[in-house]
Amino acid sequence: MKKGFKSIALMLVVMMFAVIVAACNKNESKVSVGIVLPTKDEPRWVQDEQRFKDALSGTKYTTEILFSQGSSAKEKENVETLINKGIKVLIICPQDGDAAASAVEAAKKEKIKVIAYDRLITNTDAVDYYVTFDSEAVGAAQAQYLVDHAKGSGEPLYLYAGAASDNNAFLFFKGAWKVLQPKIADGTFKIANSSEAIALKDTANFELPRDRDQLSKIIGQITTNWDANEAKNKAQTHLTAAAADMKGDVAILAPNDGTARSIADVFASDKAITSYVVTGQDAEKASIQYVIEGKQSMTVFKDVRTLVKDAMGMAVSILDGKAVATTGEYDNQKIKVKAKQTNVITVDKDNVKKELVDSDYYKADDFKGLK
Ligand code: BGC
Repeated sequence: MKKGFKSIALMLVVMMFAVIVAACNKNESKVSVGIVLPTKDEPRWVQDEQRFKDALSGTKYTTEILFSQGSSAKEKENVETLINKGIKVLIICPQDGDAAASAVEAAKKEKIKVIAYDRLITNTDAVDYYVTFDSEAVGAAQAQYLVDHAKGSGEPLYLYAGAASDNNAFLFFKGAWKVLQPKIADGTFKIANSSEAIALKDTANFELPRDRDQLSKIIGQITTNWDANEAKNKAQTHLTAAAADMKGDVAILAPNDGTARSIADVFASDKAITSYVVTGQDAEKASIQYVIEGKQSMTVFKDVRTLVKDAMGMAVSILDGKAVATTGEYDNQKIKVKAKQTNVITVDKDNVKKELVDSDYYKADDFKGLK
């Protein structure tokens, strides 16, 4: 009897110990917020990673950041890894808006809240929130810059867009088109490199998602796929094909900084281009240097600190069981996703110091020739 009692007690102790060890192991790999970013190959997303790290030091919740390296399969794998680590909130910037649906659906099955970060995840109901910049305003700011710096009339306009797999490419182009179209209609600009844009030149505004197919035709023709090399090759092809009346002083809608620099280099090396005005976005350091040197005309500054703060703020509200603050909604072609949106700032050589250095975003000695 006594012996039996002893062995039961021993067994209980062993079992308790096993439970404690298991709990410790689980805690070791436990993560509250999983963050998935598209690629380390573009400075934009490496910057987001750094801004997340800056914002996370000192928070009580654990986080882990994984990169998808341009692959939706890798992205899905990353999400599964994070699900297995017990995340309660997933912050994800999709590589491809449609393809990411299955990854976030897997998260939703585990009752994980999903926050789309910067790029919307489309055609699924498994997105809870969207944290973003005002992407239409980005395109509008780029276009407005071209309009404000147009030289007379009949100026050739070269159009470039982002990747069609990124919902933002549509928002950027829609925003730009609304500003450019009246100036195409009144003869300020003539479209140099897109028969699809010429075919739709009388459309004053595209509504999304309603007019997605029409926009797809233009974007399909002028896409850079967010790839600097593809942008360079396209620009070379366009300039080789361009007649003399499509050279001289030109305007170029380039969708972001990475593509802007390579497109600008191509235009700068063509002797028949007298001058060019070229847009960008992201305020990448290399582009800020280009702006200072007059090789890129402008960029749109999207303060990633705010985006990160909003995304983490949302995640913490969810974890704390508090209400999540949003300011609007975005149609993802399946549902309306509650969204928090941030404004953007046009930057050129005149305000680059004020907006990017005086604001402590970058250090003055990151650049040469800054006045
Ligand atoms: C982002 C841009 C970025 C681009 C390419 C877009 O979705 O909003 O900031 O330049 O993707 O990565």
